Amino acid sequence: MSCSITLKNISYSNKDNLLFKNINLSVGHEEKVAIIGSNGVGKSSLLKIIAGIEESFLGELYLFHHLIKDKKDYKKFRFEVGYLPQDISSFFLSPTVIEDVMFSLRTTGINKDEAYQKALEILEQLEILHLKDRIIYELSGGEQKIVALAGILITKPKILLLDEPTNALDEESEKRIIKILNSIKKSMIIISHHKSFIEQLTPTIYKLENKKLIDYK
Ligand SMILES: Nc1ncnc2c1ncn2[C@@H]1O[C@H](COP(=O)(O)OP(=O)(O)O)[C@@H](O)[C@H]1O
Ligand SMILES: [Mg+2]
Repeated sequence: MSCSITLKNISYSNKDNLLFKNINLSVGHEEKVAIIGSNGVGKSSLLKIIAGIEESFLGELYLFHHLIKDKKDYKKFRFEVGYLPQDISSFFLSPTVIEDVMFSLRTTGINKDEAYQKALEILEQLEILHLKDRIIYELSGGEQKIVALAGILITKPKILLLDEPTNALDEESEKRIIKILNSIKKSMIIISHHKSFIEQLTPTIYKLENKKLIDYK
C-alpha cells in the first residue's frame, strides 16, 4: 500500500507523564483516519508530532515513505501537509479573509495577482466568497474554521491533519464541514470527540486509550 503517513513505535511523554507508548499507524493514499479519545489522553500531542511541531518523541515518523529525522527533513514536506490546530485563535496572520488566504499561498512564492485569483477560487469552492473582505475576528467560530481550511487547502497539501475541526460549532457549521471534507480526496487524520461527526467521514476509527491506539468499533 502507498502510505502517506506511517508511525512506527511512537512514544511520547509530556514533562514526566507518559502519554502514549509504541504507537503504530498507517494512513494510505487518500485514506481518512479518525482518532477519538478522552480529554487529555494526548490526541493533540500525537497530531503535533505528525505535523512536525513536536519533536521530542521516540520512534519513527515517515511521510510518503521518507523517514523524518529532524526539522530539516520535515521542511521538504511542509507544503504537502496542512495542519489545523485545535485552537485557531493564533492561526490567522492577516486581518481580512482574502488577505489571510492569499498569505498562505504567497509563502510558496506565488505572485500577488495569482494568489488573489486562487484565493477567490478556494473561497468560492468552500462557499464563503461573500466573506472575502470581512475581518476574521468578527466572524463566527464556524466561519473562522472554514476560512482556516481555505488557507490550508489553497496550497494543495496531500495530507490534512485536523484537530477537532468542529469543536464548539453549531449543527449547521458541522454539516458544512462534513460536506467539505467528504468532497476532498486527500489523506487525512481527523481528531474529534463527536462520534456522529466522525462516522459521517470515515469507517476507519481509532481510539487513543491506555497509551495505545486501538481499533474502535
Ligand atoms: N504545553 C503543555 N505543557 C504541559 N502539559 C501539557 C501541554 N500541552 C498539553 N499538556 C498536557 O498533556 C496531556 C495531553 O494533552 P493533549 O495532547 O492536548 O490531549 P488531548 O488532545 O487528547 O486532549 C494533557 O494532560 C495536557 O494537560
Ligand atoms: Mg486536543
